[in-house]
Amino acid sequence: MLIVRTIDELRQALAHAQRPAFVPTMGNLHTGHIALVHQAKPLGDCTVASIFVNRLQFLPHEDFDSYPRTWDADCKALQEAGCDVLFAPRERDLYPQPQTFKVQADPAMADLLEGQFRPGFFTGVCTVVMKLFLAVFTGKAAGVAVFGKKDYQQLMVVRQMVSQFALPIDLVGGETCRAADGLALSSRNGYLSEAQRSEAVQLARALRALGDAALASTNLTADLPALEDQAAQALRARGWQVDYLTVRRRADLQPPQPGDALVALGAARLGSTRLIDNLEI
Ligand code: PAF
Repeated sequence: MLIVRTIDELRQALAHAQRPAFVPTMGNLHTGHIALVHQAKPLGDCTVASIFVNRLQFLPHEDFDSYPRTWDADCKALQEAGCDVLFAPRERDLYPQPQTFKVQADPAMADLLEGQFRPGFFTGVCTVVMKLFLAVFTGKAAGVAVFGKKDYQQLMVVRQMVSQFALPIDLVGGETCRAADGLALSSRNGYLSEAQRSEAVQLARALRALGDAALASTNLTADLPALEDQAAQALRARGWQVDYLTVRRRADLQPPQPGDALVALGAARLGSTRLIDNLEI
């Protein structure tokens, strides 16, 4: 595996690739990330991963400084997964000047759910993803990028960005990897104490229960607010601080209408650790 730091080095490394398959990450790789690399590999002729902890997508009080950085283990895992090129820019490589030009996502999709609790998050994500896409795919007629469904709203916002900018990139969603008890794998799980770790699966269970109740409802539009409220109350009673637990239509994350394909999404805090999860139901 070739490790490159600058955009020029990356472009040289990819000079002969016709269809790069790209997995962007912020490092601290777990089985979920590695599954995305395995998924990407047969979809292109050169598998590229990136590791970059993107300051732009963290709010001032969030965990940018303490975000886990596990360089040696990440390189080993990517090498073993058959990644061909690792793009690991330093901050000065990706943001040589303050990044004053930004990619602003459609507020209809980006200002709800995560965007409501993390204002500016999707601008930070879209800006860095556009820069990474330009670094990897400039000059290529086609490419593939694989994003985990664990960050469901992120996948949808990036999908809309790819579509509206007509980027020649097939965007592929990877299924969420879960621990044996059902907890979605996430770098932030590492912040949990032992007791919090045993409790953490309750978020996935709450989404499952909410999803089942939504599917059982004969008048979801009328019933949903109370179902969401009950689900949030149940988690709060266990000591969680709930940001949202909701059922939305998959297509655009708006409140569902009869016949829509549905997804249950949630974000909640255990102590100071904020976890998110979702289930297509
Ligand atoms: O999902 C992530 O790890 C990040 O949001 C991403 C897509 C790598 C952009 O920084």
